[in-house]
Amino acid sequence: MTRRDDAPLHLNAFLMSVGHHEAAWRLPESPLHRETQVDHYISLAQTAERGKFDSIFFADSPQLYTDIGRRPAGGLEPLTLLSAIAVHTERIGLIATASTSYNSPYNLARRFASIDHISRGRAGWNIVTTAGPNAARNFGLEDQPSHRERYERAAEFLQVAQALWQGWEPEAVLADKATGIWGDNSKVHPADHHGRFYSVAGPLNVQRTPQVYPLLVQAGSSEDGKNLAAQYAEAIFTAHQRIEDAVAFYDDVKARAARHGRDPHQVKVLPGIVPIIGATESEARSKEVQLNRLIRPEYALQQLTQTLRLEPGELSLDQPLPEYLPDEDEIEGSKSRYSLIVSLARRENLTVRELIGRLGGGRGHFTFAGTPEQVADVIEQWFTHGAADGFNIMPPALPSGLEEFVDTVVPILQERGLFRSDYTATTLRGHYGLPVPPFTRPQELSRPRAALAIESTREGH
Ligand SMILES: Cc1cc2nc3c(=O)[nH]c(=O)nc-3n(C[C@H](O)[C@H](O)[C@H](O)COP(=O)(O)O)c2cc1C
Repeated sequence: MTRRDDAPLHLNAFLMSVGHHEAAWRLPESPLHRETQVDHYISLAQTAERGKFDSIFFADSPQLYTDIGRRPAGGLEPLTLLSAIAVHTERIGLIATASTSYNSPYNLARRFASIDHISRGRAGWNIVTTAGPNAARNFGLEDQPSHRERYERAAEFLQVAQALWQGWEPEAVLADKATGIWGDNSKVHPADHHGRFYSVAGPLNVQRTPQVYPLLVQAGSSEDGKNLAAQYAEAIFTAHQRIEDAVAFYDDVKARAARHGRDPHQVKVLPGIVPIIGATESEARSKEVQLNRLIRPEYALQQLTQTLRLEPGELSLDQPLPEYLPDEDEIEGSKSRYSLIVSLARRENLTVRELIGRLGGGRGHFTFAGTPEQVADVIEQWFTHGAADGFNIMPPALPSGLEEFVDTVVPILQERGLFRSDYTATTLRGHYGLPVPPFTRPQELSRPRAALAIESTREGH
């Protein structure tokens, strides 16, 4: 499947404390103690808006995810943060991650509806199922639900959330002072959902929002993840090291969307790139070396050991990965990222130390060091060869990496006619060229589709 030739490039800024590189906080220019300061994030969002980005995005997990010995952690909850950013920006889209495994549909639907109102139609939701048992233990569970069950829940969660968001018809609010009738009760519908995981009466206590519901983004690349995305996602975040893998993924998810009766052009695929930018190629490379030198290998080793489900001591820094590693089928956490890391190490015959260096920038996302022209070339190549509809830009250090990208790479993309010079839309869906969802009666949406998700998974794509 190829991209439509007239489709513009999309850029999303994936923002993370003081940068994606795990050692970015140790750079001399990195500000300290910024991860809990709202003005830091407001300023980053304004920089991305100056660069006419489609959106910004915050990752999240309901657990203390990172070893705090290693890198800044304990930052702000994304939806709360976005409500502050919304009132200090005008046009840029605002995407927050929230877990379907550890939220209830009513509460989360209400929060996203509120953000969509506060931002006047700029909200987006990165739908994740949350990997790892530690989060489960924060919610009264001894272990996480299986990978399969997490995705089945996610499918039903989305059904319920959509029924809630669609519950208010466009003309439900009359606000007619003359007759004294504020709203039309017949135009507000219950969700009336009774499924395998959720029972939700509704209606939602927030009025219909400018976008009806947030832009739906999905970021899991396992079979179940891709099937969920094919049914619901309007944008997909993904990680690939090589253009050929990205093309295969792109074709795969677009074909799955078509099999679900959707227009594949309305599912935007955004792989991640960690651009390390220098005035010359050698300056960019030495920045990368400087960052990688600041990694503390003992922490990175511990993290990799856990990701690969090994025991402490089973990895040694100057050896390749052990011969025996579990299959992706045995992984209950993040399946696709596990496979990406193992195949990168095997393909390039990397030692553990080299692998740690390759993962330090973006945890498996494609890291590229070069001049602004070279970064623009890579983006153009992936975009025109059907590997991407746009990119998740993941600056290694913040704010410097985002400022450099906006000031040096964006103008090149604009000159080449690939990227907008100004916003033409006011909503997040508008930036991505996607239509506002039409009104659909909740009863038509609330059939549980979890069974469908399982069935399509067995197609074996
Ligand atoms: C760009 C990107 C951002 C992600 N952000 C999050 C996140 O914030 N929280 C999370 O739990 N998982 C996040 N993920 C991981 C996936 O959503 C998913 O949970 C994980 O890959 C496991 O799914 P899989 O087994 O289907 O691959 C992200 C993945 C990508 C590619």
